[in-house]
Amino acid sequence: MINVTIIGTGSVSYHFSEVILNRNGIRLIEICGRKKSIPKYFNKSISYSNDINKIKIADIYLICVSDDAIDLISNKLNVNEKSIVIHTSGSIEMSCLSRHKKYGVLYPLQTFTVNSLIDFKYIPLIIEANSSIELCRVKKISDIFSNKVIECNSKQRLLIHISAVFANNFTNHMNVIAEEILKNNNIDPSILKPLVLETFKKTQYLKFKEVQTGPAKRNDKITIEKHLNLLKETKYFDVYNKITEEIIKSNYEL
Ligand SMILES: NC(=O)c1ccc[n+]([C@@H]2O[C@H](COP(=O)([O-])OP(=O)(O)OC[C@H]3O[C@@H](n4cnc5c(N)ncnc54)[C@H](OP(=O)(O)O)[C@@H]3O)[C@@H](O)[C@H]2O)c1
Repeated sequence: MINVTIIGTGSVSYHFSEVILNRNGIRLIEICGRKKSIPKYFNKSISYSNDINKIKIADIYLICVSDDAIDLISNKLNVNEKSIVIHTSGSIEMSCLSRHKKYGVLYPLQTFTVNSLIDFKYIPLIIEANSSIELCRVKKISDIFSNKVIECNSKQRLLIHISAVFANNFTNHMNVIAEEILKNNNIDPSILKPLVLETFKKTQYLKFKEVQTGPAKRNDKITIEKHLNLLKETKYFDVYNKITEEIIKSNYEL
């Protein structure tokens, strides 16, 4: 049995706690956070502490705190030499855990929000460790969670994280802009939902370039000019113009 302690009480901590509770061969012995009590969305059976100095002994310490706090938490964490300390960030170097004897990274390439349902089996887990023995150990745990475990170094992981920012965060911000434009003009923004759903559905069986449609892909100059004219006085002008230029520059000849 592998004993795990999670540090942090946010979205990633919540989803790891759920998957650990639902898998054999791995046990969640404690969650440690800075809040007085554990947030209500966690399973009631979980043991909780808000004192990192009294953290229970575990085989694995999974640091699931904001990127900027990983270093601070790592420095506060006193673990025995057999335990491995792992963080879950896409962008923080593994070496920030180097004060520990055994350390690694387990970055889940997925977007996590508390209250969303996620099947860990299909999440690519990007892993790294400070020795081949520890890498085997991180792989063994990751295999319990997912069917897709990928070994990468810190630079490759950062590149994966950058591409995830484009694929997920930026595309979603485009949806936020689309929603604002409709709301500002008293049009129900929910009419966008079928379009967004169909776009993402298509990406599952077509190449991303094959999914692209619209005036910029066709280089319909008159339509683009009309859009830009209407957006002239708004904060959306620059982003529309820039993305349109980028799409026109991309080679959409398939
Ligand atoms: N969310 C995602 O989609 C996603 C995906 C893959 C990887 N990750 C990585 O997973 C990690 C956790 O992300 P998350 O989305 O779960 O974040 P989150 O929901 O914002 O939760 C952040 C957690 O960090 C704690 N924290 C922040 N600053 C702290 C400090 N100075 N001292 C102690 N605790 C502190 C917060 O405590 P309070 O609640 O008390 O503020 C909270 O428990 C990050 O490294 C992130 O890059 C996130």
